[in-house]
Amino acid sequence: MTASQAHLDLGIDVAGPGGGISAAGLAKGSPRLAAARDPKGVVYTRPWVVDLILDLVGYRPDEDLAARYAVEPSAGEGAFLVPMIRRLLASLTAHGRGLSDLRGSICAYELDADSAARAVELAERELRKYGASGRQARDLAEGWVSIGDYLLASPTGRRADIVVGNPPYIRYDDVPGEALAAYRRRYPTMVGRGDIYVGFIEAGLRQLTEGGSWASSARTGGCGRRTARSCGA
Ligand SMILES: C[S@@+](CC[C@H](N)C(=O)[O-])C[C@H]1O[C@@H](n2cnc3c(N)ncnc32)[C@H](O)[C@@H]1O
Repeated sequence: MTASQAHLDLGIDVAGPGGGISAAGLAKGSPRLAAARDPKGVVYTRPWVVDLILDLVGYRPDEDLAARYAVEPSAGEGAFLVPMIRRLLASLTAHGRGLSDLRGSICAYELDADSAARAVELAERELRKYGASGRQARDLAEGWVSIGDYLLASPTGRRADIVVGNPPYIRYDDVPGEALAAYRRRYPTMVGRGDIYVGFIEAGLRQLTEGGSWASSARTGGCGRRTARSCGA
């Protein structure tokens, strides 16, 4: 693998679909600084962690970001997506580009329709602040966010220069059998008893272009021995 990879362990532990912060994680260190919990129990990444990850993969406004294809596999309500859009827009003027250059710059997946709708709304707001017309902002935002299952969609998706995010944390035991079987057919790392985030790591790495960059937050504990073996670790 020539692509650069970064993996931040934020002390987040499993708490059902969407993840959660474990008592063990809280006792260990600084997860409270790393992840914010919304009333539904879904863990969203804190802004400083997002900024750190985006810096790590070189998604910075001084780069010509419109020329890169960046993927957010599980957007939630835009914890990564919104800062990505801000950086993307900040990079436009410096590189003599306009809004029409941005259509193919970002792709964010989200399984939950309500969260995806919120992500679109926030993306639109950023574009309107930048000066996009209502129509332009709506078209771009809707083009960037897809309601769908990243694990099923990514193998046929366009290769990405950058894949960043915070995956869902769901134990295989809690994934419906049919979905798990479909994931396992696509991702050899999803063996044994584990967590769906393993598939997100494999899918993200596979989607990269040669020399592309992947970075993600991750729950405490890493992957099991069988998974590590199938990753070649
Ligand atoms: C831990 S949250 C992360 C949200 C956001 N990226 C962040 O960092 O705050 C994981 C999100 O993944 C979504 N999700 C779960 N399974 C998914 C799948 N198979 N494909 C895409 N999104 C999924 C959940 O609905 C949830 O919004």
